[in-house]
Amino acid sequence: MLAINLTNKVAVVTGVTSGIGAGVAKVLAQAGCHVAGCALSADNDEGTIAFVDSVESFGRRSFYQYADVTKPEELASFIDKVVILFGQIDIVVSNAGANVFKGAEKCTDEEWSHNINLNLASHWNLARICKPWLEQSDHGVFEVMASNHAYASIPGCFPYNVTKTALTGLVRALAIEWGPSIRVVGIAPGFIETPGNDKWFASFPDAEAERQRTIGLHPAGKLGSTAEVGAWCAFLASDFAAFATGTTYLVDGGRSALLQDS
Ligand SMILES: NC(=O)c1ccc[n+]([C@@H]2O[C@H](COP(=O)([O-])OP(=O)(O)OC[C@H]3O[C@@H](n4cnc5c(N)ncnc54)[C@H](O)[C@@H]3O)[C@@H](O)[C@H]2O)c1
Repeated sequence: MLAINLTNKVAVVTGVTSGIGAGVAKVLAQAGCHVAGCALSADNDEGTIAFVDSVESFGRRSFYQYADVTKPEELASFIDKVVILFGQIDIVVSNAGANVFKGAEKCTDEEWSHNINLNLASHWNLARICKPWLEQSDHGVFEVMASNHAYASIPGCFPYNVTKTALTGLVRALAIEWGPSIRVVGIAPGFIETPGNDKWFASFPDAEAERQRTIGLHPAGKLGSTAEVGAWCAFLASDFAAFATGTTYLVDGGRSALLQDS
């Protein structure tokens, strides 16, 4: 049987206490990784406990530390601790981020800077902090969570789509500078079942009708799941993807394949 086997690899995932990061951590543990995660949740938050339980339910080791990815010193302290505890880092999934819904001219300088720090600079900071450890790994992989907004966007989502597009450049540039010892890949998910998107549907007078309308925009006939994004991360981290580097993979249920007048 062909199976993804990441046994005894150490993975670092940011933003593990909710949504996509939680799903990625769980699938990586299922594939055999020990997983260290950070996020903005306290140690006793529901999401933190769920992260630890999900990793340990597969018999893997977990470690959680509060760290704000926009603060390089907090990222560095998190990675220092990971190395003390695990002695190695093989896979990094730089996932933490958030949508910043603002039109171009309405976006304040403060919102612009926050968005650049969170959705672009934090990924570069994590990459350079982890580089020495990924180099020492047999097959170091740095994965960046971009978005379908890197390829097509909507009005009112200006700063977010600028930075998610820039991440595709970061993936390309680091792949060519850090290969062959480190592979660098991006994942650009479309509409994924996450708490944020549930809130989005709940903001409509008829949430279920809006949900069905959105599903109808997807040739896959569904929204994506966090486990499916996790499976992409596990595959891209594995030797099956040894020829994958420098590219950001769009995983959007076919939404971008559908012309607007269909
Ligand atoms: N949900 C989607 O449909 C979707 C689609 C495309 C891309 N994405 C991207 O996936 C990533 C995760 O999105 P999500 O929807 O799962 O989010 P979410 O809000 O459900 O979870 C975000 C996680 O990141 C953490 N986080 C947020 N800001 C942080 C910071 N400054 N420092 C450290 N941790 C921080 C939170 O604590 C939480 O654990 C983001 O980069 C987002 O842009 C999401």
